[in-house]
Amino acid sequence: MKKILAVVGSPRRNGNTHILVSRIAEGARAKGAMVDELYLGDFTIKECDGCHKCWERKECSKNDEMCNIYPKIIQSDIIIFGTPVYWYGPTGLMKVFIDRFVYFNSPENREKIKGKSAVIAVPFEEESPETARPVVEFFEKSLAYLEVKLVGKIIVPGVSGRGDILQKAKRLKEAYELGQSLA
Ligand SMILES: Cc1cc2nc3c(=O)[nH]c(=O)nc-3n(C[C@H](O)[C@H](O)[C@H](O)COP(=O)(O)O)c2cc1C
Repeated sequence: MKKILAVVGSPRRNGNTHILVSRIAEGARAKGAMVDELYLGDFTIKECDGCHKCWERKECSKNDEMCNIYPKIIQSDIIIFGTPVYWYGPTGLMKVFIDRFVYFNSPENREKIKGKSAVIAVPFEEESPETARPVVEFFEKSLAYLEVKLVGKIIVPGVSGRGDILQKAKRLKEAYELGQSLA
C-alpha cells in the first residue's frame, strides 16, 4: 500500500489549494493508498538559518514542529506539494517548509528522501500558465537536486476567490485521476 503525504501550503483553509490537494488525496484513497493530509498553517515551522547542525549531528537544531514532520516525510512514498502562486513564487509557508529540506542534503540523510516521488498542485488567479513557471521550476530543480521524482503536476490558472476551483470540473477530475494513478 502506498503512503502519501499531502501538504497544503496555502494559509487559506477550504481554499483552492486545499480543495485541489484533497481531490488528489481522494483519488489515491479510492485506490487503496494511505494519505496523511498536512496543513502547513497549523504548524509552527521556523526558518532554516543555515546553521548546518543537521550536517554535524544529523538532527535539526530548531526543535520545532517540523521535527515531527520529518518522520512523516521519511515514511511516505509520495509527497504532494500544494501551493498557490504568491507573487510568482510559492507561499511563505511552502518556502519555509522546503527550506527545511536542507536537512535531507546531509550525506547521512540524503538516502531518507532519495527515490521518493512527488506531485505538485498549483492554483493561481491569472489566466496564463506562464504565471506558474517560476513555482514549477522551483519544485523541478529542488526535487531533482534531492533525487525525488516529480511524477505529476496539476496547474490551475484562473482561480481567485476561495473555492473558485469548484467551477473547474475538468481540472478536478484530472486531480482525482492523478491521485488514482499514484496509488
Ligand atoms: C499574497 C498573494 C499574492 C498573490 N500573487 C499572485 C500572483 O503573483 N499571480 C497570480 O496569478 N495570483 C496571485 N495570487 C492569487 C492566488 O494565487 C489565488 O487567489 C489562489 O487561488 C489562492 O489559492 P488558495 O485559495 O489556495 O489560497 C496572490 C494571492 C495572494 C494572497
